[in-house]
Amino acid sequence: TPISLIGVPTDIGAGRLGAAMGPDALRVAQLGPALSELGCDVHDLGNLAGPANQRKPRDPAHGDLRNFGEAVVWNQAVHDAVHGQLAAGRMPLMLGGDHSLAVGSISAVARHCRDTGKRLYVLWLDAHADFNTPDTSPSGNVHGIPVACLSGLGPRELTHLAGFAPALGPQSLCQIGLRSVDAQEKHLIKTHNIDVFDMRAIDELGMRETMLRALAPLAGCDPSQTHLHLSFDVDFLDPEIAPGTGTTVRGGPNYREAQLCMEMIADTGLLGSVDIVELNPALDLRNQTAELVVDLVQSLFGKSTLVKDLRR
Ligand code: ARG
Ligand code: MN
Ligand code: MN
Ligand code: MN
Repeated sequence: TPISLIGVPTDIGAGRLGAAMGPDALRVAQLGPALSELGCDVHDLGNLAGPANQRKPRDPAHGDLRNFGEAVVWNQAVHDAVHGQLAAGRMPLMLGGDHSLAVGSISAVARHCRDTGKRLYVLWLDAHADFNTPDTSPSGNVHGIPVACLSGLGPRELTHLAGFAPALGPQSLCQIGLRSVDAQEKHLIKTHNIDVFDMRAIDELGMRETMLRALAPLAGCDPSQTHLHLSFDVDFLDPEIAPGTGTTVRGGPNYREAQLCMEMIADTGLLGSVDIVELNPALDLRNQTAELVVDLVQSLFGKSTLVKDLRR
């Protein structure tokens, strides 16, 4: 499937500025050429446009969130762009931007799957659950609420972007790498029955067993009937290897674990769309986090050291 890169240069949902430069940092790190090198057909569609980040305070008239109206406009643009690429038979790779944009991208994927009768499965790689609601959010930042919105909890402008809600049922979502979950989020994750492999699970099981279990629901799925979406928050990675992101939490997957995670996703052959979010070049060191992400995305798209076993 041909790949479309969609830049979404905004930090509208984040607490600090800088993620708006994420798409260009990934281009400087040669994301497009790195995929072409693997034999992928890649087109960079450039950047979407949207409202500026005026760093508005929390607003009780808008769900007590910050920059709510602007976040909705950006997410509508993302939804339309991602849905358009899927409908054209292409694989959208959304270059964020902060993680609030996953509401738009995953709503589009959910709509596409409903239209085409495909089964949807979302892997959410993150240090955080992003399962706050406007009522529970400690920050008012929209990047802390996308999973709740996709699960049908939150302001209607964000829960209903696909045209229906919830965009995602709990059996369609698995979160990996969590290590910073707010008190009330813990209860929401539990009541909503979200599948989570937190860092303790990864410590105990190892990344291989974690991914085998996370991908088990897809075993034997027909690739023509199944759509796997990866939402990759750069803060999933350990800050020692990935300092270029706004909400680092120590104790994340190391380089080898992250590579294996990507390789095992590639091996499913089911990947249909991707978000790369929360890369903040203003906090990075000589673009090392962007370069690391490009390296990992090559594994996600099938790069391997040796010839692959074609029997699998
Ligand atoms: N849980 C915190 C909040 O609601 C942090 C969320 C961080 N999210 C992210 N996408 N980096 O504000
Ligand atoms: Mn996130
Ligand atoms: Mn995060
Ligand atoms: Mn598809």
